[in-house]
Amino acid sequence: MKKAPHAIPYQGSKRKLADSILSYMDFEIDTLYEPFAGSGAITLASAINQKAKRFVVADKLEPLAELWKMIVDEPERLIEEYSLYWNGQLEDPAKYFRDVREIYNNTKSPSALLYLVARCVKNAVRFNGSGEFNQGADNRRLGMKPEKLEKEVRAMSRLLKGKISIKGCDFRQAISQATDKDLVYMDPPWQGTSGKRDPRYAYLLNIDELIEELDSLNKREVPFMLSFDGTCGDKSYGSDLPDFLNLKKVLLNAGRSSQATLLGRDDVTIESLYLSPALVKKTKTVSHIKENPQLDLLGVGTT
Ligand SMILES: C[S@@+](CC[C@H](N)C(=O)[O-])C[C@H]1O[C@@H](n2cnc3c(N)ncnc32)[C@H](O)[C@@H]1O
Repeated sequence: MKKAPHAIPYQGSKRKLADSILSYMDFEIDTLYEPFAGSGAITLASAINQKAKRFVVADKLEPLAELWKMIVDEPERLIEEYSLYWNGQLEDPAKYFRDVREIYNNTKSPSALLYLVARCVKNAVRFNGSGEFNQGADNRRLGMKPEKLEKEVRAMSRLLKGKISIKGCDFRQAISQATDKDLVYMDPPWQGTSGKRDPRYAYLLNIDELIEELDSLNKREVPFMLSFDGTCGDKSYGSDLPDFLNLKKVLLNAGRSSQATLLGRDDVTIESLYLSPALVKKTKTVSHIKENPQLDLLGVGTT
C-alpha cells in the first residue's frame, strides 16, 4: 500500500493500523465517511490508495474541522502562519507555547491549533470544561519543522481537493446521508480513556447515542467499520458492543505501544475492529482469513 501524507500529528491516529483496516475495503466505495476524523488517517490512506471516489470527514471539534479546510483549500496560508509560529518560538519555546495557547483560546485559529497539537505533550489535545485548550508543552522538542509541514500539507491538498467535504459537527449529522454504496469508518474516543477524570478529546462519547446510530446504519444497510476498544498488555479498555447489532469483531495487531517501549516492556497492543453485517457481506477478506489462518501473522485476525 502507498504511504499517505500526514499534516496533523494526533494522538490516537490510526496511521499504523491503516493497512490492516484498508484490507477490508476490497469492494467499490462511492463515499468514505470518517465522522470522528482527528487526523483522518483512514481517509488519507484510502485516498492515496484510491479506495473511494469521494470523502466526508467530520469532527465535533470545530477548529479541527477548520484546520482540515485550510489544509485542503488554503495550504499556502496555513504553511505561512504555521512557519511564523514555529520560528517565533525559538527564543523562549515554553513561554511562546503558553502565548499561542492564549491566542488559540481567544480566536480558535486553526493554525494556532496546529502549532499547539504539534508541540504539546504526546500530541494529545486536552480541553477544560469551558472548551479551552489546557494541555502543556513538551519542551524537549519544537514540533514538526515548517519544511516538513509544507511538504505534507501540499501533498494532502493535492490528494483531496475537489473530492472532500469537511464538517465541524456531531458524527450523527455527518453520516446522515450515507447509503449502502458508501462506507463509514468510525473511531470514537475510547470508553476506557475518556472518563471524566481524563478527558482526552474535546467531547466525551455518549455510548447510547453511538449504539442507536449503529443500529440505524444497520437498518439502512450502510457498511461500516468501528474501532472501539483496545487492550494493551494486561490492561484492557472498553467493553463489547451489544449482540443485537450483529457485528463481527476482528483483532488488529498495532505493534508495541510507545508507552510500553518507553518502559522497556514487550506488550503488544491489540485493537478491535467491528465490521457491520452489510460490510461482511461485501468484503472477501473475512472468509479469506478463515481459509488462511497464517494471515493472522500479518496482523489481521478474526475472533
Ligand atoms: C480517537 S480520535 C480519532 C482519531 C483518528 N482516527 C485519527 O486517525 O487521527 C476521536 C475524535 O472524535 C472527535 N469526537 C468526539 N466526539 C465526537 C462526536 N460526538 N462527533 C464527532 N466527533 C467527535 C474528537 O474530537 C476526536 O478528534
